[in-house]
Amino acid sequence: MEETSSFRRIEGIGSHLQPDLLQNCLDIEGIAVNETSADDSEETQPKAKKKGATSSVTLTRPNGKTATIEVDEESQQRGFGPATIHATDLSKVGLRAYDPGYLNTASATSKITFIDGDKGTLLYRGYPIEELAEKSNFLEVAFLLINGELPTKHQLSQWESKVMTHTYLHENLIHLMQTFRYDAHPLGMLISTIAALSTFYPEANAALSGQHIFKDPQIRNKQVFRIIGKLPTIAACAYRHRIGRPYNQPATQLGYTENFLYMMDKLSEAKYTPNPKLARALDILFILHADHEMNCSTAAMRHIASSLADPYTAVAGAAGALFGPLHGGANEAVLRMLEEIGTVDKVPKFIEDVKNRKKKLMGFGHRVYRNYDPRAKIIRKVAYEVFDLLGTEPLIEIAMALESAALKDEYFIKRKLYPNVDFFTGLIYKSMGFPTDMFPVLFCIPRAVGWLAHWLELLDDPENKIVRPRQIYVGPAQRNYTPIDQRSTDAPFGTDKVYSSVSSKRRNVGEITLSNL
Ligand SMILES: CC(C)(COP(=O)(O)OP(=O)(O)OC[C@H]1O[C@@H](n2cnc3c(N)ncnc32)[C@H](O)[C@@H]1OP(=O)(O)O)[C@@H](O)C(=O)NCCC(=O)NCCS
Repeated sequence: MEETSSFRRIEGIGSHLQPDLLQNCLDIEGIAVNETSADDSEETQPKAKKKGATSSVTLTRPNGKTATIEVDEESQQRGFGPATIHATDLSKVGLRAYDPGYLNTASATSKITFIDGDKGTLLYRGYPIEELAEKSNFLEVAFLLINGELPTKHQLSQWESKVMTHTYLHENLIHLMQTFRYDAHPLGMLISTIAALSTFYPEANAALSGQHIFKDPQIRNKQVFRIIGKLPTIAACAYRHRIGRPYNQPATQLGYTENFLYMMDKLSEAKYTPNPKLARALDILFILHADHEMNCSTAAMRHIASSLADPYTAVAGAAGALFGPLHGGANEAVLRMLEEIGTVDKVPKFIEDVKNRKKKLMGFGHRVYRNYDPRAKIIRKVAYEVFDLLGTEPLIEIAMALESAALKDEYFIKRKLYPNVDFFTGLIYKSMGFPTDMFPVLFCIPRAVGWLAHWLELLDDPENKIVRPRQIYVGPAQRNYTPIDQRSTDAPFGTDKVYSSVSSKRRNVGEITLSNL
């Protein structure tokens, strides 16, 4: 029972709140995520950043150009990464940094999440992920990521009430979702529906309501509640659409993940309550996926939001990055790999193929972690709890054999390749009965909290600028236009290669007359 109540929303708004707080909870315009108001200029103005310890380096080029550049030592001194220089200082000696994939470029300062890849540490606002997964719940972690501190009891109950109040969708949005094809990919439905939300809230659109709207905390906070609240409802509707069942309305008295399972599974019963152990397992998975500093989708969120686009469009863009197998689609790739291996006795041959570069061990390796991904350790435990309830997923045997073979093998040891978060998540989702194309949707719901935390941080960052990277131009130098009859060689015409469907081929072998004249 205790397990359930730890993540269940405190029951009955009226029963536990003072009248003024109740008013505040129900006042959907006056949200108090942080206690600032629109005209509190002290709070809405970006604060100048405090300067930490610095040193300097002198750069000298062969052409004699020289400059002394300031080095920010604070990160290194605090053990949070290397010292940094400002890339624009390189221009003092006529240099520009080239860094495809941002391998060694920090695009922002952030106080949200810290990863120590060598030690395998992940901290949200300074708290170890292991402690949060064990002791906290998803909505409390969402509060922490967005507001910077853990909530008091009163703050948490207010926060939960606000989020759950915003779980309903406008009927027009429901109709919009119903127009998708029966087999539409749930992530495609989710992305389109979030983007459509922007058309419902013109007050959150700087193009319509003015460039300064995001300085108003009430406007910002309202969008935060709407997005966190509505995402599980959109996701559940996408799932029900896929399996051809009518959509369910949210049950706002339930906890966040409990309500999500409810909306997916309720049929015509008078009362349906999802299994608390499964809700808790999903809650832990949501905690683990809530943020991961400057990953591909979060960078996309910051990129789009830096233009002051509305947060719905920015979240839809960030969610688009989850479609890719190198980011949100990796757990699906792990499942396919395990299915392809098929039986435990084929594991040694598969490992040999990986070492001979014929195959890739999906769910292993990470750009930042050079140690066991701490999330993978937690997920391994959760997997067995889910299997206890729903039966063991047979592919786990192959996963365990692969993990144990790889962790003993010199190839993986030398390259510091360990299981990452995706190695076990797909197995849990599969054993919980989620179709594979729901996996990136299950990633999107919690990660949106991280995106929103980064959005708010970026809006307050005095150094924030519209993201506009430079390029190294390698195309032709300036040349004059050649009239068409003087062009002697065929241009390399890449866009002439387009596949035709069989039905187009059939049509095209017919006689086509373009004009009636
Ligand atoms: C995550 C990933 C893209 C990180 O890539 P990266 O930081 O660019 O790492 P590199 O490609 O430089 O890898 C370093 C070495 O390890 C090898 N390696 C990395 N991941 C590997 C894997 N999963 N299987 C086999 N070899 C791997 C590389 O071939 C390379 O070997 P080399 O130095 O002999 O050429 C990569 O590890 C990968 O593709 N993993 C599988 C996909 C996955 O699980 N993604 C989810 C990430 S959360």
